Amino acid sequence: MTVKYNDQGVLTMGNISLKTIAASYGTPTIVYDEEQIRSQCRRFHEAFSNSGLKYNISYASKAFSSIQLFKLMAEENMGLDVVSEGELFTALASDFDPSKIHFHGNNKTNDEIEYAIESGVEYFVIDSLDEITRINRIASKPIKAVLRVNPGVEAHTHEFIQTGQEDSKFGLSIKHGTALEGVRALQASDKIDFKGIHFHIGSQIFEADGTINTIQIVFEWLKENNIDIEILNLGGGFSIKYTNEDKSYPIEESIKRITDAIKENSEKFSMDIPEVSIEPGRSIVGEAGVTLYRVGTIKEIPNVNTYVSIDGGMSDHIRTALYNAKYEALLVDRQEDDLQEVTIAGKLCESGDLIGKDMKLPKSTKIGDYIAVLSTGAYHYSMSSNYNQMPKPAVLFVRDGKAREVIKRQTLKQLILNDVK
Ligand code: LLP
Repeated sequence: MTVKYNDQGVLTMGNISLKTIAASYGTPTIVYDEEQIRSQCRRFHEAFSNSGLKYNISYASKAFSSIQLFKLMAEENMGLDVVSEGELFTALASDFDPSKIHFHGNNKTNDEIEYAIESGVEYFVIDSLDEITRINRIASKPIKAVLRVNPGVEAHTHEFIQTGQEDSKFGLSIKHGTALEGVRALQASDKIDFKGIHFHIGSQIFEADGTINTIQIVFEWLKENNIDIEILNLGGGFSIKYTNEDKSYPIEESIKRITDAIKENSEKFSMDIPEVSIEPGRSIVGEAGVTLYRVGTIKEIPNVNTYVSIDGGMSDHIRTALYNAKYEALLVDRQEDDLQEVTIAGKLCESGDLIGKDMKLPKSTKIGDYIAVLSTGAYHYSMSSNYNQMPKPAVLFVRDGKAREVIKRQTLKQLILNDVK
């Protein structure tokens, strides 16, 4: 686990007391264990190295974008997957090598396409027929591309469902023939060098079955239509543990099964083994991050519920309201077994502004306590907002017993920076 209680009962990350961090930097603050982020990158690298295949791992920026994180990603030999000019701008501001960035998105604007090409982005993940036409028209120099296909497979948890994802804004459908149309348009283009195929079958996928099944569908389709590829991009979606009901993606075991399946299918269909790409986001940063809050109010409704309200909420933690996501929380300065079930609520003006219902906290929880909500490293800061004019939280990295600020807390002045007076 990213955090643990020390002998004095204080919750720590990388040997630093989270109580000290909360007291010195204020709350809400998101704190990352830098070593854990690095270790996740290395686990993926090692799993692919062991397969002997040519591979590329691109961190999916949408999970959490920041200059310091992108510098760390470069140090860990990761590529980057960006989906907007804003993510690309942040990556370039971190001096990330543009040739290791690929550009995604189902509605890239012409400006974004031009900006990416001029910045030296390596390849595009093409998401529509219209995008091919537009790139052919506006690209100032040749680019490389893979085509995002919709394989008609959906995998979100333990289960995968075939033909589950036909109705989607992403990708071109294998079943309905638009994917083949896309490939032929790319092969005919003199501006775009067609490199291969991309698919992404879902988020928080616990194991490899859905991916392996999709690999088979894609290989059959490639063979049937005589399509040669150099790159097969499997997307992201590898799971993390939010609560005990989840399990962290078994990286070593599943990447072995997936790369074996690619080797087997290549042999079966007499095709060259493609370079394998993945785009993990959540599994790189999710478990490494925790959010620190301070308890401000406790409201007991006898025989009904107890509300423990903290000093942040859906402005920095939208996943509970949006997906009914579940979390665990710990007190930062003591570990006690005598627990009660409470609702941890945010401070924003909306009843759905919760960290979670039926969450377990010590009965002794009182006003002024700091709490840590676990596994908030992915899709928290990146999905944060200024609803209720809440400033965005500070973000820290902890390593070797030291903490450093990587994003400063937003100030009140910054909240009105673009307001016309
Ligand atoms: N590649 C593609 C094409 C994707 O659409 C995504 C996520 C990823 C990679 C990275 O997936 P990851 O490894 O992070 O699961 N806001 C939602 C998640 C949206 C994910 C969208 N696409 C959440 O908080 O759960």
